[in-house]
Amino acid sequence: MPDSLTTNSPIIAAYRAATPGSAARAATAAELFPSGITHDSRYIEPYGIYIDHAKGPRKWDVDGRCYVDYFGGHGAMLLGHCRPEVMAAVHAQLDRGTHFGASHELEIRWAEAVMRLIPSAERVRFTSSGTEATLMAVRLARAFTGRPKLIRFNYNFHGWHDHMTSGHQNHFDGTATTGVLDAVAGNVLLCDQNDEAGLAKLLEQHKGEVAAAIIEPTGANGGKLPIDPNFLQALRRLTAEHGVVLIFDEVVTGFRVAPGGAQQAYGIRPDLTTLAKILAGGLPGGAVAGRKDILDLLDFQVTKGAGKEKIAHPGTFNANPLSASAGIACLRIVAETDACARANKYSDDLRRRLNEVFEEERVPWAAYGTFSMLELFTNPEREPVTPTRFDPLQYSFASLKGDRNAGVVHKMRLAMMVHGVDLSSHPGGVVSATHGEAELEDTVAAMRNSVRMLKAEGEL
Ligand SMILES: Cc1ncc(COP(=O)(O)O)c(C=O)c1O
Repeated sequence: MPDSLTTNSPIIAAYRAATPGSAARAATAAELFPSGITHDSRYIEPYGIYIDHAKGPRKWDVDGRCYVDYFGGHGAMLLGHCRPEVMAAVHAQLDRGTHFGASHELEIRWAEAVMRLIPSAERVRFTSSGTEATLMAVRLARAFTGRPKLIRFNYNFHGWHDHMTSGHQNHFDGTATTGVLDAVAGNVLLCDQNDEAGLAKLLEQHKGEVAAAIIEPTGANGGKLPIDPNFLQALRRLTAEHGVVLIFDEVVTGFRVAPGGAQQAYGIRPDLTTLAKILAGGLPGGAVAGRKDILDLLDFQVTKGAGKEKIAHPGTFNANPLSASAGIACLRIVAETDACARANKYSDDLRRRLNEVFEEERVPWAAYGTFSMLELFTNPEREPVTPTRFDPLQYSFASLKGDRNAGVVHKMRLAMMVHGVDLSSHPGGVVSATHGEAELEDTVAAMRNSVRMLKAEGEL
C-alpha cells in the first residue's frame, strides 16, 4: 500500500467519494483476479476506475463521470474511441463471421496496408499481440543468424515473455526474474540506451554470438527516457557491421509517430519491425514485418528448397477477421489523413501549456516527450527546474519515472481523476488524433487544480 493511503488525505477521500460504483466493482474483482486487475498498469490504490463506454478522446465510468483519456487503450486508440469508419468495418465483418479457420481476403488487404506504410516491410506475419510479435522476431533472428544472444536496452519494454523481463523494471544485473530460466536470461545482454561506446564494446566482447538487438526506437517506455537519434544511427551501423539483426519494436510507435512509424520519422531501416496496438485499430493483433530473407524462415517451400528447418508458427487468432477489418479501416485513415500529425501537434500544445501551469504555480515539475507521448517529470530530488527548458537526458530513468516519489505521483493521478483526467502510471499518457481544444483546456485546468490540492496536502 502506498504511504499516501495511510494518511488522512483529502485527495483520496475525494476520489473515493466520486467513484462509489468503481469501488463496489473493485471489491468484487478482488475475489476474482490477483490484485483485482487484468493488466499490471491498471493497478492503482485504493482501486481503479471502471469504465462503461468511451467516445473519441473521452471515456465515462460506471458512476457516469467523464474523463479525458490519456491511456488511449494502452496506445492502441490513435483515432480515439469508436471511430465511425472502424466501427462500421467491424460491425460489417461481425455478421460475416469472426473466425473461418482459413485464409481470407481481409488478411491480404491488412498486410498490403502494413507494407504500404512501413518502409522496411517486405513480408508480414500476423500474431495476436505485441508480446507474440517480439517473441517471433527474436526467434527469427536466432534461426537466421544461428547465434544465441539478444541485446536489449535497459528499461525498454517489449512485452512480458521470458526474454524481455530482466532489465525492464528490475534485474539490471541481467539475472533471471522470478519464473524465468537462468539459461534464457543468460543469453540476454543488457546495454544502456544512447551509449554508443558501451554497445560497441558489448558487440566486440560477444563477436559472432549476437543474433539480434531490439529497441524501442523513440526510447524506453515510448520515450520516457528519450532516444538520441544519433544513437539510433550508430545502432544501425554497428549491428550491420556485426551481422546482427536490428529489430525496431514499433508496437507503440508504429502508425503513431508518423504513418510509417519511427523508422520513417528517423529515416532508419531496421531488419525486422514488431507491430501491434494501432495496427489492429483497437482490437487484438500484432505482426512481425521486415526482410523477406528473414521471414522466409516461416515459408514451407523456401525452407525446404534451402534445406533449412522451418520455424513453426500456428496461432488460433493470427490475422483474425475482426481485427483485420478494424486494422484495415484504421490504417487507411492513418495513410490518408493527418491523424499522426494532429496527435503530435496536440501533444506539443499540451506539453507547453502544462509547463506554463508548473511555472505559474511554481511547481518544479516538467512535461516533456516526443511525438504524441506525454511524459511528466515530478522531480523526486526536488531540484530547481525550469519546466520550459527541461532536458530529460540529464536525469536517470528512476528519477524520470518518479519511483522515489511514488506517493506524490499516486496522489497526482487520483487528483487528476477527481478532476476528470485519466493519466497513465508512466506518469503521463498517449494522445489521440481526436484530442482537441476542449480536452486541452480541461486537462490544463485539472492539472492546475491537482497541484493546488497537492500543495494543500503539503505534498508540494
Ligand atoms: C514497445 C512495446 N512492445 C511490446 C509490447 C507488448 O505488446 P502487447 O501488450 O500487445 O503484448 C508493448 C505493450 O505495451 C510495448 O509497449
